[in-house]
Amino acid sequence: MGSSIQQATNDLMNSRYAIALSGAGISTESGIPDFRGPKGIWTTDREAEAKAYQRYELFLRDPKSYWEEMLGSKGTYGGFYDEVRKGKPNPGHYALAELEKLGVIKCVITQNIDGLHEKAGSKNVVEYHGGVHKLRCASCGTRFGFEEISLENLPPRCKCGGAIKYDVVHFKEPIPSDVVERAEEESLKCDLMLICGTSAVVYPFASLPRMAKLGGHRASIKVVEINAESTPLTYEGISDYLIQGKTGEILPEIVKGIKLIVNSR
Ligand code: APR
Ligand code: ZN
Repeated sequence: MGSSIQQATNDLMNSRYAIALSGAGISTESGIPDFRGPKGIWTTDREAEAKAYQRYELFLRDPKSYWEEMLGSKGTYGGFYDEVRKGKPNPGHYALAELEKLGVIKCVITQNIDGLHEKAGSKNVVEYHGGVHKLRCASCGTRFGFEEISLENLPPRCKCGGAIKYDVVHFKEPIPSDVVERAEEESLKCDLMLICGTSAVVYPFASLPRMAKLGGHRASIKVVEINAESTPLTYEGISDYLIQGKTGEILPEIVKGIKLIVNSR
């Protein structure tokens, strides 16, 4: 086992309250493209990125057109959501679920909208950017299962009269306050943060590792990155070390190491 994987295994075993953060990189091995990697959605289609930045304004201005775009056929962004909904967890997701079962990590705060952490068995998941399996009333914040709401008449309306949108948090859309509170509470509480598969360039999510570094355990906190490439967290020394490689390979190695220690006690 590589030395940095060994180090992460020991650091996790010595932690009292470890949490994991994840980004699109953990889902690429499920066939869901990331955004800024070499074959990322934004890397390969700048127009799609520009449209994504307009999406929330479109919803506010014309929720019916928002839905017509979001329910588009294959190839449109709506088609991407259909693909994402069908996604399957990979060994990286299962490893994080296993670490939660072993009591080693307490929660996962994910930027991903694919719901793959829950599908893999993780129970304590904060979906920081919402998810494609849920809808949310833009006025009162009530959330609904995707199947619960008829899309016969667009936009679907909440009992409060508000227009309902995807629970997905679009660019320039505020992160729902219940999610912000939970994510900040966990980041300030943790004494180890395992950051898996994110370029750490999108705020406010990218402020969570900095918050952890300055949080309650500032002296002893460990911030560990598992990523295919270095990120600003690496360059700025926010992370103590980077384990460079695939989350679907590294995380199962860490689980193996932890089980060896637990079973030898
Ligand atoms: N294992 C480890 N790292 C990987 C893997 C993998 N199998 N595949 C890709 N990566 C790395 C990429 O090199 C990149 O550094 O994961 C990172 C993914 O970064 P992004 O594509 O920017 O995804 P993310 O950080 O989740 O984006 C944040 O941006 O577009 C918005 O809302 C969207 O939630 C998303 C947010
Ligand atoms: Zn409502």
